[in-house]
Amino acid sequence: MTIVVTGGAGFIGSNFILDWLALSNEVVINVDKLTYAGNLENLQSLKDGDGHIFVLSDMGDFANISELLKAHRPRAVVNFAAESHVDRSIHGPAAFIETNVVGTFRFLEAVRFYWNNLPNAEKQAFRFLHVSTDEVYGTLTPSDHPFREDNRYEPNSPYSASKAASDHLVRAYHHTYGLPVLTTNCSNNYGPYHFPEKLIPLCIHNALAGKPLPIYGDGQQIRDWLYVKDHCSAIRRVLEAGQIGEAYNIGGWNEMANLEVVTILCSILDELSPRQDGVSYIEQISFVKDRPGHDRRYAIDATKIERELGWKPAETFNTGIRKTVQWYLDHQDWVENVTSGAYQNWVGKQYGA
Ligand code: NAD
Ligand code: DAU
Repeated sequence: MTIVVTGGAGFIGSNFILDWLALSNEVVINVDKLTYAGNLENLQSLKDGDGHIFVLSDMGDFANISELLKAHRPRAVVNFAAESHVDRSIHGPAAFIETNVVGTFRFLEAVRFYWNNLPNAEKQAFRFLHVSTDEVYGTLTPSDHPFREDNRYEPNSPYSASKAASDHLVRAYHHTYGLPVLTTNCSNNYGPYHFPEKLIPLCIHNALAGKPLPIYGDGQQIRDWLYVKDHCSAIRRVLEAGQIGEAYNIGGWNEMANLEVVTILCSILDELSPRQDGVSYIEQISFVKDRPGHDRRYAIDATKIERELGWKPAETFNTGIRKTVQWYLDHQDWVENVTSGAYQNWVGKQYGA
């Protein structure tokens, strides 16, 4: 048996593949375009024969994807591939429309044709799991109930609007063509292999490099943090037992203001890797201009996935963030390769011109 994963060289996709192959013998075909966010070093611990097959391709390349599906006959696809950084979507929305909307559409088309031609039993068993975000629901006031699956879609950034569009396409392919889809909407992830453009890895990196820790606006924006391996276990559970056509919210019941998150990071670093001058990393916090259209609060009501599928996160923020900080301290070479851009040479080395 085989599954196809798109975006498996990114942060969550690579964690998903590492966990998947540690838990099962089922082969994973990893389709990734290797944008700036794709890093095959994330998967370097895998050995030949571990069941990972990498395919360098745009998920929107209909011909490539069709050929690959025909050759490998997967029983499922898990669609992680996306442009994922909100700030980049503000500076340059085009890539977000191209990949998250048009790319998802073309990928759905290729999968639909493949699925349509499967024998009946395989057709019934097939699943298309689309990985999405809580940002599609927009923003909450302090007194609002956390996002439920039936909240209105009210995306506020080009990133969240492009993800909302992709969710709608996935839904439509089920409703119109019967494609057996599942959608997951998850809150903010953190953990190993997180690209240091996002708040937590950026602040760990900047702290150790003696640089400012940039906090947008007043730092009181709230996010609901989930350890990446818990997100991966939720996706596995939805793939295994989710109801076709349903969406599942995934979150850690762990709302925190950004300033509090960065303060906790600083105190863990003070303990594990203190500054030579004895001053706390907190001194490096620096308030900077706010993100345009910055959503004030995200929070997930994860009752449905717990009640219907029995999924719960294994980590609390305290245990997960400690593991994360330790991982970055132990993998400074990974951070160095990413921040210097050296990881991109890997593709040339591995695949030639
Ligand atoms: P990431 O930016 O770290 O990785 C994205 C991966 O997709 C990269 O490997 C990149 O090379 C690949 N990719 C981009 N465009 C592609 C294309 N056209 N064809 C093939 N591959 C392409 O992202 P991430 O943080 O791992 O997020 C993965 C998914 O999870 C995204 O769909 C994102 O919207 C969703 N999500 C992320 C979070 C989070 O906190 N990071 C939370 C909820 C949902
Ligand atoms: O909610 C899920 C989403 O979480 C995912 O869909 C996105 O792919 C993922 O990138 C993440 O989006 P955010 O915008 O919430 O993550 P980011 O790490 O960029 O920012 C987290 C919060 O920290 C946000 O309120 C903005 C703030 N921030 C971020 C950066 C990079 C800062 O204050 N300073 C910073 O330098």
